[in-house]
Amino acid sequence: MCGIVGYCGPKKASEVLLEGLKRLEYRGYDSAGICVSHKGSFETVKRKGKIKDLREIVPSNMVGNTGIGHTRWATHGEVTDENAHPHYDDSEKIVLVHNGIIENYQVIKKRLIAEGHTFLSDTDSEVISHLVATLYKGNLEVALRETVFLLKGTYGLAVMHKDNPDKIVGVRNGSPLVLGIGENEMFLASDVTAILAHTKQVIYLEDKEIVVITADSYKTFDFHEQELQKKIENIGWDLDQIEKDGYEFFMEKEINEQPESILRAIIGRTDVDGATGHLGGLNMTPAELLNIKRIQIVAAGTSYYAGMVGAYLLESIARIPASTELSSEVRYKNPVVQPDTLYFVVSQSGETADTLYAMRELQRKGGRVLGICNVVGSTIPRESDGGVYIHSGPEIAVASTKAFTSQITVFYILTLILARMRHLSYEAGLRLVSGLESVPEKIKEILADSGELKKIAVKYSKYENFLFLGRGLNYSVALEGALKLKEISYIHAEGYSSAEIKHGPIALINENTPSLFLVPDDDLRDKVINNIKEVKARKGKVIAVAVKGDDEIESIVDDVIWIPKAHSLMYPYLMVVPLQLFAFYMALELDRDVDQPRNLAKSVTVE
Ligand code: G6P
Repeated sequence: MCGIVGYCGPKKASEVLLEGLKRLEYRGYDSAGICVSHKGSFETVKRKGKIKDLREIVPSNMVGNTGIGHTRWATHGEVTDENAHPHYDDSEKIVLVHNGIIENYQVIKKRLIAEGHTFLSDTDSEVISHLVATLYKGNLEVALRETVFLLKGTYGLAVMHKDNPDKIVGVRNGSPLVLGIGENEMFLASDVTAILAHTKQVIYLEDKEIVVITADSYKTFDFHEQELQKKIENIGWDLDQIEKDGYEFFMEKEINEQPESILRAIIGRTDVDGATGHLGGLNMTPAELLNIKRIQIVAAGTSYYAGMVGAYLLESIARIPASTELSSEVRYKNPVVQPDTLYFVVSQSGETADTLYAMRELQRKGGRVLGICNVVGSTIPRESDGGVYIHSGPEIAVASTKAFTSQITVFYILTLILARMRHLSYEAGLRLVSGLESVPEKIKEILADSGELKKIAVKYSKYENFLFLGRGLNYSVALEGALKLKEISYIHAEGYSSAEIKHGPIALINENTPSLFLVPDDDLRDKVINNIKEVKARKGKVIAVAVKGDDEIESIVDDVIWIPKAHSLMYPYLMVVPLQLFAFYMALELDRDVDQPRNLAKSVTVE
């Protein structure tokens, strides 16, 4: 959700900034801009559009070794050149980029206008540069510190002043900011992918911290002028993990990476001898785990659907009452927090504002909250009371794919641990372990054999409405499949429990609204077949994702996407991968921007 980057060093700043912004583009991509300082003057280039559009207008002779850049996901003010960052004050001595939302900007703006300030944009961000100017008395960090006391909201900021043109001051409150330490060069960025090409040494800023960088120095402070000694951390990711690696799209790469990414989430966490699992990051003793009476999972978007799979497994297999809630709804409903409930927040990015704020509210009320996250060092893992990394590697495409299958993997292992402590027999535990370990190979089969699936996606790409229907453990997969299709193809799709359609959605069925049914060979299969027949009786077209060997299905539906046979609990994996591919091929056919679909952003750091 907006990406910011800053650079001080010997290199041509414009190049470092453009390259960093390109890597941050998944955070927002409606407009972008950079400002570079050179010999005491600032040169700014900004425009509506993507980083490639910005690159076209950045002059090749834009010299200067210090600068800041921004890629925007609009919140306040339309997508225009004027509203793109960076923003100046009236004197044009102060320039900044901002990620976050200033909630009280209207009050501040009104006051500043009355005092004679002129605003050039409709953004909330521009008030900050003007405020800094009013408080500036020769030291930018002091002025910025005084400014932040007047702001209500969230911000990751990078600010420069003409008096000290080789210095950048950054501040974080609610929006991520990381400092990169190179050899005679320093970086600021919303996340590490922007600077990974230059350094792996980073310091993660916490909320209410200020950082001051020049090419060869950095200092960090709290909001009370205390200098901080912060730990330098090493980024575990390599550059090739954030490249497309021969694929045309990140999404395609990430779908295809799933056999390995799932394996990374499993490795070292299953215990064949004990027919159980092991998740060290939970930081809980077996006795504490045994005392859990309830589990509540909190998340947004795709992570929410992964949480639904988790809750279903935990309740049905581990026999612990479990539920999933949307993080955006948790914070404001004054949730009841109970000591014997264990809370999980699930977030690929570890930065989603809705989820982060829900976690803080649960913690404030005394809840024990564990994180299930991908991005190492992001805010949720740092603030949670323990948790598990899914180790998917960087997920760059806005539509989440491999994070989903790794998140559910953690829930399978958690279920195994908790179920074995309660009712699950050794033999059943062992079957679960081997079922899980066989998943990567079965996904490889689906990926290797996706030609027919592509034809089906192309055939159905002319339809404007879809229903995705599944039951039991695969109900959440139906919801995720519908979300994938909406996100990247802009086709209207709704996910439902297939049993639920008779209570309303069946009214939508006609020859122009195809239904995609998930048909595993589990206990609910025959009931799903009945639901398919109800749709066929109303002239609805039906695509089924069904298990190889199901001879009956072909004669009932219009098209079948085949998946391999598996342990009955493993179908969420084998069902979701075809749905990801279906959405991907459909979006390709419709010529959509697969990796950066309209209006979306990957890391949503505003409420
Ligand atoms: C955004 C993304 C979704 C993602 C959701 C939750 O809306 O576009 O793809 O599922 O945020 O993100 P998280 O990082 O918390 O998993």
